[in-house]
Amino acid sequence: MRILAFNASPRKASGNTHRILSPFLEGAAEAGASIETVMARDLTVKPCTACMSCWFRTPGQCVQDDDMAEVLAKLRRADVMVLATPVYVDGMVGTLKVILDRMIPLIHPEMELRDGHMRHPPVEGRTRPKIVLVSVCGLHEMDNFDPLVAHVQAICRNMGGEYVGALLRPHAHGMEALEKFGMPATHVLDACREAGRELVVDGTIRAETLARVSETLMPLDMYLNGANDAMRQLKAKHGAA
Ligand SMILES: Cc1cc2nc3c(=O)[nH]c(=O)nc-3n(C[C@H](O)[C@H](O)[C@H](O)COP(=O)(O)O)c2cc1C
Repeated sequence: MRILAFNASPRKASGNTHRILSPFLEGAAEAGASIETVMARDLTVKPCTACMSCWFRTPGQCVQDDDMAEVLAKLRRADVMVLATPVYVDGMVGTLKVILDRMIPLIHPEMELRDGHMRHPPVEGRTRPKIVLVSVCGLHEMDNFDPLVAHVQAICRNMGGEYVGALLRPHAHGMEALEKFGMPATHVLDACREAGRELVVDGTIRAETLARVSETLMPLDMYLNGANDAMRQLKAKHGAA
């Protein structure tokens, strides 16, 4: 199983997205998958200009000369695409959305009816990828992921990909806080690793495993007070009023 993971966190390997993504990919690698991680921030991918050359003038090829050509080549070979992103303004990080917009060369311009719905079929030779969402958010509640999950599920239906599930870590800064106090949330990290293993061995991830990734780390009021203390300290440190 070839897994291509996009990490859209601008904080790259220091971010909470990486905290969750890394054990997930390790678990998959231990179970025999080959892994490649692409840091969205390291890529130069310009926004789609809607010139539609990739459909009509140079089919399958975008006219823009940037890193997306290599990403498309990797995507054509991948069995699994992992979209890893923090929640930003109730959705995915913009760099990842730009990459997704530039995946248009992977679908045909003509449409078909799939389960009674108009869709663009994937280009020939493209495997039907499994798609996993990995996300973290700063606020405490699970419903902060609702718009992003709905978006990624819709992308799967349109791309003809198979939505496997989502590793969702709310109040993600609680992970950093627990680490700082020498009590890392090992049960969460173990669940991420187990999710990676299940993906490779079973082709799916159990709902119980995903629930363990999202387990409450601390009560809402404790997290709220801790977060506000941290904000006040940062304001004082940087001289903000
Ligand atoms: C521009 C911006 C927008 C954000 N929007 C949300 C949001 O809508 N909901 C939320 O729960 N957290 C939001 N957050 C918090 C991030 O999801 C959180 O800090 C997360 O840990 C960032 O992931 P990272 O550490 O991997 O970069 C936002 C953070 C930034 C910088």
